[in-house]
Amino acid sequence: MSQSRQDSAWVYFEKNMPTYAILSATWNCGTALIENLCRDPEAMINAYCRNGKKLAAASPQLASNDRVKIFEGSIDDVDLLLEYINGATAIFHAVSTNANVPGCDVGQKTAETIVKALEKLKR
Ligand SMILES: NC(=O)c1ccc[n+]([C@@H]2O[C@H](COP(=O)([O-])OP(=O)(O)OC[C@H]3O[C@@H](n4cnc5c(N)ncnc54)[C@H](OP(=O)(O)O)[C@@H]3O)[C@@H](O)[C@H]2O)c1
Repeated sequence: MSQSRQDSAWVYFEKNMPTYAILSATWNCGTALIENLCRDPEAMINAYCRNGKKLAAASPQLASNDRVKIFEGSIDDVDLLLEYINGATAIFHAVSTNANVPGCDVGQKTAETIVKALEKLKR
C-alpha cells in the first residue's frame, strides 16, 4: 500500500469525512451509488473498476470529480482492495452480472477478496 493513500485515508478519518468504497464503479448499481453518495458534499468515494478508461468514457463527470478516487485492477488483488477499503465507512459490493451466466462466481470471488482484505486490515 502506498504511504500517500494511507495518509489520505487517515486524514479523511480524522476529519470525520465519510469515505465509501464502491465495487464496481461502472454500469448500473455502481454509477447510481456514486452519483447518490456524491450528493453529500463531505463524502469521499473510492471507486474500483477493472477498466478506468471505460469508466472515464461512460461517466466523465465521475472520473473528473475530485472526491472520486479511481482504483483499477483485478478483483482478486487483495492488496489493491485493501488500499481502497482502508478507512472506508462502508463497502458497497456490486460486482456481478445481470445476465444469467451459468457458473458465474464473480460476485462470490469478490466477496472472498473483501474478507481476505478485512482480515489483513485487522492484523
Ligand atoms: N440494476 C438493478 O436495478 C439492480 C437492482 C438490484 C440488485 N441488482 C443486482 O446488483 C448486481 C449488479 O447489477 P448491475 O445492474 O449493477 O450490473 P452491471 O450493470 O452489469 O454491473 C456489473 C459490474 O460488475 C463488474 N464486473 C463484472 N465482472 C467483473 C469481473 N470479472 N471483474 C471485475 N468487475 C466485474 C462490471 O464491470 P465492467 O464494467 O468492467 O464489466 C460492472 O461494473 C447484480 O447482482 C444485480 O442482480 C441490480
